[in-house]
Amino acid sequence: MTKTFFVTTPIYYMNGHPHLGHYYATTVADTLARIFAQKQTSFFLTGTDEHGEKVAKKAQERGYTPQEFTDKLAEEWRDTWQKMDIDYNYFIRTTDEHHKQFAQYIIQNLKDRGALYEQEYQALYCIGAESFVSKSELREGGLCPDHDETPQVIDERNWFFSLSDYKASIRNLIETDGIKITPQSRKNEVLEMLDNPEVTDFSVTRERVSWGIPVPFDTDQTIYVWIDALFNYLSAVVAHYDVPFQGRDITDVLADIEHVWPPDVHILGKDIVKFHAIYWPAFLLALGVSEDNLPRELLVTGMFLSQGRKMSKSLGNMVFPQDIIEFFNQETQTQRGNDILRYYVLREMRLGNDGDITQERVEEVYQSELVNKVGNTFHRVVGMARKYELMDARIPDQKAQRLQEKIDTELDRRIEKYDVYEALAYLLHLCQEIGQGIETAKPWEMKKQGNIQELERQVGQWMTLLEILAHAFAPYLPDSSQVMKELVQGADVRLFPRI
Ligand code: MSP
Repeated sequence: MTKTFFVTTPIYYMNGHPHLGHYYATTVADTLARIFAQKQTSFFLTGTDEHGEKVAKKAQERGYTPQEFTDKLAEEWRDTWQKMDIDYNYFIRTTDEHHKQFAQYIIQNLKDRGALYEQEYQALYCIGAESFVSKSELREGGLCPDHDETPQVIDERNWFFSLSDYKASIRNLIETDGIKITPQSRKNEVLEMLDNPEVTDFSVTRERVSWGIPVPFDTDQTIYVWIDALFNYLSAVVAHYDVPFQGRDITDVLADIEHVWPPDVHILGKDIVKFHAIYWPAFLLALGVSEDNLPRELLVTGMFLSQGRKMSKSLGNMVFPQDIIEFFNQETQTQRGNDILRYYVLREMRLGNDGDITQERVEEVYQSELVNKVGNTFHRVVGMARKYELMDARIPDQKAQRLQEKIDTELDRRIEKYDVYEALAYLLHLCQEIGQGIETAKPWEMKKQGNIQELERQVGQWMTLLEILAHAFAPYLPDSSQVMKELVQGADVRLFPRI
């Protein structure tokens, strides 16, 4: 049995609305899930990260209890993704009863296996990052490097995780691509982090944070929000497949989900690499999970900038995807807004790079690529087929199959690296090739010369290609792909209206 392709997004903090940065990671994951669903099965997980001081503080500012606040927001996020054609298989909330029990089971297991110890502790903590920061990381004026906040001074008794015991194994796994980190620059960065003596044992419980999951063996403490969060990737699968875990060894639990576990790829931003590349596998190793059962790859995306800085709730410089989608729905008088923004984020940002976004830029990319290249090719070929009464012309099945295989091979080569940017570039290139093919073949002259057989063969070749393209575009442009199919079948529809 082929393994189910398992892809995840980070789970998002419930302290604000989804912005373009969240939309980007979610869209990449959704696209990959759809690509793999075309050939095998896939499991696409997303959800919400609801505990911790950052969320509690925001709830208080807005005059809600954290539970009320996160209930409201989680609902909104779930709705937003659905409206945007984000087709997840499971949506986890860290406040789900199941997840809370699972997180407790995990921390109890870590303790039982001797991976935790108690310690008095003094450190700096940035609520924006939900992370301890070392003095050397601070920006001028003592601010957290990403969040423009002055960290709090924490002085409490905590349970510590003995990360130092696992650093060597993790270094080895990352060096040998046992856990692959893409792009290479991020992999190098993680290897450097592993050299840093400050990346060492850290506190996994908090004494003064009440909005968290209680530590079962020490009721004065709650579980550090990042532990709670990282284990969503496992707890969601366990919940989805209804696998019992209480009182069981984790390796037995994993055996029950071996058709989907481990994650094939975690999509995440560069700001949370340390947690995913170092802490997450270290916890799994500490629980006795074998090396071949660790996440296989981390795909680290760049940041969408706005006004030159990372878009973030803390800085308040967000661009909201709904606004852009709504604008294009209106301008095109269709529901194509989703696909237009989707295309933009997948095409504009080479995986791993940063990108800036403005509505004008989305418009430019829409006109020059979707309208002029993709839409134009489809309408030109179909228009011609209609004019010459060759709407049913196709090349013979065997030839069509060979063509399909050739295109699949090219796409697979790019998708093996999860490179949706390059895969889309290839599809665009095929559209352009058809355009050039028309110029060279000059079907109108064939018609004039009465060379009908050759005309039919040519048009058939292009129509077959359009059918293949309509299918191949589906994961990237789910809605438009449907319109492409209808167009090729003779419906009177407009693919990408000019604006
Ligand atoms: N809750 C944690 C993740 C826990 S995963 C076990 C978190 N949440 S977040 O809501 O702050 O960010 C979630 C993801 O969105 C991160 O991968 C982050 O990199 C990404 N982005 C947030 N702002 C972004 C941009 N401006 N651009 C691209 N991605 C951005 O971190």
